[in-house]
Amino acid sequence: MRFFVTLILCLIMTSCGFGHLTEVRNQDSHAPTAEECGSCHVEQFAEWQQTAHARAFVSPEFKLQSDQYQEEECLFCHSPGSVQNPEREARSYNREEGVTCISCHLYEQAMHGPHDSGALFSPHAITKNSKVNSKKDSSQLCGVCHEETYEQWRSLGATKHYPTCHGCHGVSVERPHTRGTDSFSNILVSFEPVHRVYSHYLILPNQPEQGTGPEIQLDAMEADTIHFRLKNSLPHDLPTGTYGTKELFVVLSWRQPDGTVVEKKKINISSVLAPGEEKSFAVIFPQKEYSRDLSIDLYRFHHSTQKATLIGSYPFAMDSF
Ligand code: HEC
Ligand code: HEC
Ligand code: HEC
Ligand code: HEC
Ligand code: HEC
Repeated sequence: MRFFVTLILCLIMTSCGFGHLTEVRNQDSHAPTAEECGSCHVEQFAEWQQTAHARAFVSPEFKLQSDQYQEEECLFCHSPGSVQNPEREARSYNREEGVTCISCHLYEQAMHGPHDSGALFSPHAITKNSKVNSKKDSSQLCGVCHEETYEQWRSLGATKHYPTCHGCHGVSVERPHTRGTDSFSNILVSFEPVHRVYSHYLILPNQPEQGTGPEIQLDAMEADTIHFRLKNSLPHDLPTGTYGTKELFVVLSWRQPDGTVVEKKKINISSVLAPGEEKSFAVIFPQKEYSRDLSIDLYRFHHSTQKATLIGSYPFAMDSF
């Protein structure tokens, strides 16, 4: 019956002309683009477009630091062919797509993913592969490029069970693999099984209570000094990353009961905290009578882009002191 339906669908679509989706020809730079994948995988494409992966090649910092793309050894990670290929080859086509769909999914003429084929009609071959499954071994796939970070995670994993990279950096969603874009494809999609998976967004998770973010603890409040501790409870360095210069800083802000900030103080943290490491701080910061609440915001600063990203906000109610 299923075969029959598939056959009919193929006939309706006049020919099963989807071979190009799994075909890469280096010699004439032919390969499917992320946009083509996105015509069916609408959500995955929209998510991926917002990530650093999609900018890994075109970012001005990369262009500059790779000497206008002259540095060949950078390209395997910033414009990779299939990361499942042990040959570690860079792409010569669609390089502006950076770390793209086919880098992670296409290998040996099939799309490698977390599940077996479950749809009525599959326009490309599918291979179930635990390395492209966020509940299984997908950290290995991340580790092909995030080498040092992966090694840190892996060496801890043996003793303590941390989530996979995607388990912290992705967002859990429930959905079929594709989205219909017209009435015909809507019918096809309605036959697809729904799966719980991690999306392609790359978030910076910050839920210290669930062990997915760094911890900040207030130890003591003296008349003019605040003592607090920053603990790296992550399974990798804080700040994370091998490339580029990153630095942490915290901003302490006193607030009035109505939320107005009364006073602020910024402290740079020049060291890198290894997993499990703590660092204590004593900050001279007079407690004003009219201010009750303190919040400590933790940021990372990228020297290449001169941009600061908020990692997390930690509020403390002063009446507990
Ligand atoms: C014409 C629509 C269409 C296009 C274009 C398309 N796909 Fe798919 N894809 C599907 C359908 C339908 C499924 C579900 C098939 C099934 O379950 O048998 C699927 C499944 C997948 C899966 C999930 C496999 C799993 O194990 O869960 C991945 C990964 C995937 N596609 C990647 C890609 C990539 C990468 C591209 C671009 C090179 C692409 N697809 C282009 C329709 C498409
Ligand atoms: C082919 C190499 C490659 C693979 C595989 C890869 N990454 Fe990346 N990743 C990069 C590069 C390169 C960057 C930096 C891009 C930039 O900043 O220009 C990056 C950036 C990131 C960032 C930083 C995001 C931000 O907004 O700053 C996170 C988080 C991340 N990757 C997580 C993952 C996870 C999780 C996986 C596995 C599912 C993975 N990566 C697989 C190469 C890779
Ligand atoms: C850095 C590697 C990486 C890149 C780049 C990437 N994916 Fe994925 N993709 C994964 C991983 C890992 C999973 C498994 C998620 C899970 O098991 O929860 C996945 C799952 C999927 C799935 C099945 C689950 C779902 O969301 O329905 C589809 C379809 C898919 N990807 C399509 C794409 C498309 C299309 C692109 C490009 C726009 C893309 N992927 C880019 C790593 C990647
Ligand atoms: C327990 C949750 C957790 C797990 C598991 C985890 N991370 Fe992270 N990761 C974080 C948090 C929180 C941050 C933000 C702190 C920072 O910027 O260093 C972060 C930061 C990062 C960054 C820097 C983001 C940026 O903006 O440039 C990268 C890259 C990264 N992680 C990659 C990985 C990889 C690869 C793995 C798997 C080997 C992994 N992470 C596993 C929680 C996690
Ligand atoms: C083994 C894979 C790999 C290679 C080789 C590689 N990169 Fe990266 N690059 C990454 C990953 C992963 C990230 C993001 C997380 C991190 O910093 O570890 C990144 C991030 C970057 C960033 C963003 C840094 C920032 O300031 O946040 C730049 C710029 C960059 N790389 C340039 C280069 C240049 C130039 C080369 C070649 C000399 C190179 N990379 C080689 C994997 C790689």
